Amino acid sequence: MKKVKKEEGISKTSVLHGLENRNHKRATSELYTEKEGVVVVSNVKKHFIVGDNNISVLDGVGLKIKQGDFAMLVGPSGCGKSTLLHIVYGLEAPTEGEVFIKGTDIWKHTKNWRADFRNKGVGFIPQQAFWLKSLSVLENVAVPSIIGGLKFHEGLEKAAQMLELVGMSQWSKHRPFDLSGGQQQRVALARALLLNPWFIIADEPTGNLDHKSGVELMDLIKQLNDRFDITILMVTHNPEQYAYATKVFKMLDGQIAEVVENKKRKLKK
Ligand SMILES: Nc1ncnc2c1ncn2[C@@H]1O[C@H](COP(=O)(O)OP(=O)(O)OP(=O)(O)O)[C@@H](O)[C@H]1O
Ligand SMILES: [Mg+2]
Repeated sequence: MKKVKKEEGISKTSVLHGLENRNHKRATSELYTEKEGVVVVSNVKKHFIVGDNNISVLDGVGLKIKQGDFAMLVGPSGCGKSTLLHIVYGLEAPTEGEVFIKGTDIWKHTKNWRADFRNKGVGFIPQQAFWLKSLSVLENVAVPSIIGGLKFHEGLEKAAQMLELVGMSQWSKHRPFDLSGGQQQRVALARALLLNPWFIIADEPTGNLDHKSGVELMDLIKQLNDRFDITILMVTHNPEQYAYATKVFKMLDGQIAEVVENKKRKLKK
């Protein structure tokens, strides 16, 4: 077990071994190398058929995210941000184009391969948190362990550690719906961390929070990014949050209209 220095929002005794020892394996099919980006979206298009209409939502999206980047995706409501996140997460197929994660085109693989890819390295915080109502906060956080190949009691232990990490231990036995929006998002973050991700995708995690809770959650995500070098791709509508980002991708009319790069803050050891 490894101890970490106390920082606001991060517990000193948390067992962070898994997060610190994630396996940064390189892929063999190297169309895009990690040097170019651990996440490379290339000319992605997405159409939805609604009745007789073929609606184009994404029209040739391209972006590159490097290991340790804190990337933000912004744009007007309905422009396709959630759709793009689902495509990068391997849940929704693009109509055209490729998504290379660590050099591998995830859409050239099977559904089971993508499920494995998600379990082994990617945490997701959805726009609408989903909870199993009959389970406690602790059990809800442990749910990914079932598909991730851990025994449930191991999952519960890990869930307790992750709740400690996000400062929510004292709420373990409550039901998720008893918590405030900000508290629920911290719990959603704990759940996203359960299987030691190297990459977290978050769909507007602060969208329904008051200002203070939003800042607290952003600080926590930034600490995870700094301390464990977890790569972040996050949607936001709040320009105040751009200061956290190393890259801001602005979407318009189904494409990335602008990329703003900030200097990467030095990694704290
Ligand atoms: N499964 C679907 N079938 C048909 N249309 C869809 C589907 N999913 C998304 N859309 C449409 O695609 C467009 C983009 O939706 P998306 O949810 O990606 O937008 P968004 O940028 O995340 O918006 P918001 O900021 O409001 O969350 C919308 O017009 C939506 O209605
Ligand atoms: Mg959305």
